[in-house]
Amino acid sequence: MSLRGVRPSQARSLDISAQGGNVWVVLAAAGSGERLGADRPKAFVRLGALPLLAESLRRLEESEWVDAIVVAAPPDWEEPAILLAEELGAGKVSAVVRGGATRAESVRIALDEVPEDAVAALVHDAARPLVTDEIVGRVLGPLSEGWDGVVPALPIADTVKRVRGDEVVETLARGELVAAQTPQAFVADVLRAAVSEGDSSAADCASMVEARGGRVKIVPGDPRLLKVTTPEDLELVSTWL
Ligand code: CTP
Ligand code: MG
Repeated sequence: MSLRGVRPSQARSLDISAQGGNVWVVLAAAGSGERLGADRPKAFVRLGALPLLAESLRRLEESEWVDAIVVAAPPDWEEPAILLAEELGAGKVSAVVRGGATRAESVRIALDEVPEDAVAALVHDAARPLVTDEIVGRVLGPLSEGWDGVVPALPIADTVKRVRGDEVVETLARGELVAAQTPQAFVADVLRAAVSEGDSSAADCASMVEARGGRVKIVPGDPRLLKVTTPEDLELVSTWL
């Protein structure tokens, strides 16, 4: 099934519950958070009063676009993830799976829980807590215009250079570069095929779709979708809550 020919407004007005769900979210939360350097996986580090994972989970639960959510949890943190979903009353959480060794593997494992009749699949990093309903709608929209995938992205302010060690190899044309964020939206079948055959070290899902010749559209991202990577990022995002 594909979203081609279906306008987002129509998709939204379908009786989704009667159809068994059309827009599924894979919430990638299984990373260890090495660069954050906390005593627990990044998804369970505190942001405000709750674990980081709670913020994106609550926002996706409340999104009018989202029908169901699969969480990829860090190994041995499946139970705390289930309890957190219960505590938040996140009834859209359909499954919590044990994540894999890489982000791509975590997404692949989570996609196994997404039913065949899913129309669109969104993949979001739990490390980007401030996802909004607006951005979810923004990435879903172009799927109805024939795009295979949609990526929110920001222009890059700095000049970006390719280096080998400390030596510059090339200076890239900044006008052609953007910084990709999540949530990324895909026609569900296209994502499934790309992830099942894709490189397990792929940095994002769009790159796996691109590698198979899929058409991926860029839409404006949001600076507040900052990915929490370092303790400074966590501090900054907490001021935006
Ligand atoms: N992720 C995942 N499974 C993995 C690795 C990463 O689900 N095996 C998720 C992370 O939980 C995060 C997102 O992918 O939400 C982006 O990854 P990143 O920011 O790199 O998180 P970590 O890998 O946890 O951090 P680090 O690279 O510092 O260890
Ligand atoms: Mg990582």
